[in-house]
Amino acid sequence: MNTRHSEQQAAVRDSPTRRRILGVGIATLDLINTVAVYPPEDAEVRAAAQRRARGGNCANTLAVLADLGHACAWAGTLAEDAGGAFLQADLSARGIDCRQAVRVPGGISPTSYVTLSQATGSRTIVHYRDLPELDAAAFARIPLDGWHWIHFEGRNPHETGQMLARCRRALPRVPLSVELEKPRSGIESLLRGPDLLLIARGFALADGGPGVADDPRVYLTELAKRTTADILVLGWGEAGAWLLVRATAPLHLPASVPERVVDTLGAGDVLNAGMIDGLLRGASPTDALTRAIALAGLKCGRSGFDGLAAAIRRTEAGDDQGQPGPDR
Ligand code: FRU
Repeated sequence: MNTRHSEQQAAVRDSPTRRRILGVGIATLDLINTVAVYPPEDAEVRAAAQRRARGGNCANTLAVLADLGHACAWAGTLAEDAGGAFLQADLSARGIDCRQAVRVPGGISPTSYVTLSQATGSRTIVHYRDLPELDAAAFARIPLDGWHWIHFEGRNPHETGQMLARCRRALPRVPLSVELEKPRSGIESLLRGPDLLLIARGFALADGGPGVADDPRVYLTELAKRTTADILVLGWGEAGAWLLVRATAPLHLPASVPERVVDTLGAGDVLNAGMIDGLLRGASPTDALTRAIALAGLKCGRSGFDGLAAAIRRTEAGDDQGQPGPDR
């Protein structure tokens, strides 16, 4: 981090908008090969670059929220292997508190093998995992006082449903969010309890059928009847996002597309972070989503996640277009 960035971070750290956020979900090891164009099946190609990064939806979202100045803590499972040490070091370096993470002796770090195409910025992920996920019994040991927001990845629905129910009972006024990325058995149970639903295109298409693409508004309106959430956000990549605030009509907001799409890995995780940050700062759902989309757009124009908060501040100040980040 350069001096300017550290000074900006220090300024945000002292700000009254710094909030305590607990994120529950996964951290993964991302092994990212950059290729000129996405290869055909059974091809043998050379990567132009390779990097190893912390990944995982929840961990990525927390990394951005920490960059935006919040005090974040992560609850998930961590293998006691070299990958686990790397993940812990990355999260800790960002000031993310890992004391609530559960170490799994003999576990193997979940790993994503990512092929990033320079031609399009698309990312193709082959994910391998063989690590138990955080369960409700472990979550029950986490003290619930003092959080301003609790965010869950919508996975392991049986266990996550119990965690959500505990939070709802104990913290009736603390906002809870759930990310729905993929359809999973029992995921319906996660619709009851959250205040904010962060829905990925893949989930919507699997849940509502391919017709959802024709008019996501119809799907959102139907989904709103099945959930306690008052705010629903449906991200649609290059087509922007849809927002439904209870009792109002769904709204479409266009994407913010960078001059060159460099790296879309984790753009949805950034959108989620932007939305949570905006609402925590008291922005209206529309303003929060507008800024979240801008943040996700900036992310797509740069490699990795570093420096996004500084980039959006520069963009908002009209300084520049957010300047592409370093290739980590
Ligand atoms: C991006 C990401 C990657 C990770 C994968 C897990 O959204 O979180 O960092 O490898 O998805 O599904």
